[in-house]
Amino acid sequence: MNSNTESNVVWHNTSVSKEDRERLLNQKGIVIWFTGLSGAGKSTVANALSVKLHNNSYFTYLLDGDNLRHGLNSNLGFSKEDRVENIRRVKEVANLFADAGVIILATFISPFREDRNSVRELLGDRFVEVFVDCDLEVCEDRDPKGLYKKARTGLIKDFTGIDSPYEKPEKPEITINTHKSTIDQCVQQIIDYLKERRYLNRG
Ligand code: ADX
Repeated sequence: MNSNTESNVVWHNTSVSKEDRERLLNQKGIVIWFTGLSGAGKSTVANALSVKLHNNSYFTYLLDGDNLRHGLNSNLGFSKEDRVENIRRVKEVANLFADAGVIILATFISPFREDRNSVRELLGDRFVEVFVDCDLEVCEDRDPKGLYKKARTGLIKDFTGIDSPYEKPEKPEITINTHKSTIDQCVQQIIDYLKERRYLNRG
């Protein structure tokens, strides 16, 4: 419930349904949600997965934390409050895309379990949580954007894993480890799961 559901704004039903769109696209609209520390490899794996799916004629779209923070979420920082709002907005956008029939790959640190669970609640069986498991030491060693170094020297505050918490998923659908497996192996692991659960119907 929010102020609009309680008041004078009425939901319009549309004549073309989600099922109609999914038939047209020959796929199921789902959200594959990658969570993990900065530098864990979320974007790298999601990008490789989107190439593979796209090449098999699946209609995918990538929602990436860094990219969305340049537009839709450009007024948000990294306080707890802003991170909660970041994920709330992404949840709604991802839900719209899934309703449109698109396969969404969402890559957000999304450090709070409660926020991720609220995406799960909204999307139900259209939500696939992928925990990109990678030790902090490895992420810090990779430090692809030089952000850990800045966080350690105090140039960045509230950095996840350093002075801001990360709550690991308790029951993710998939756990991949980008330190122990190659990118290709991680992608294959996700595809195998999606096929087994019949989220994918071809290639
Ligand atoms: S989330 O915590 O709100 O889910 P999000 O995924 O959108 O974060 O953005 C994380 C990205 O912002 C990181 O990949 C990193 O490049 C950048 N970043 C900048 N400052 C921070 C910070 N304090 N903590 C974490 N990531 C940060």
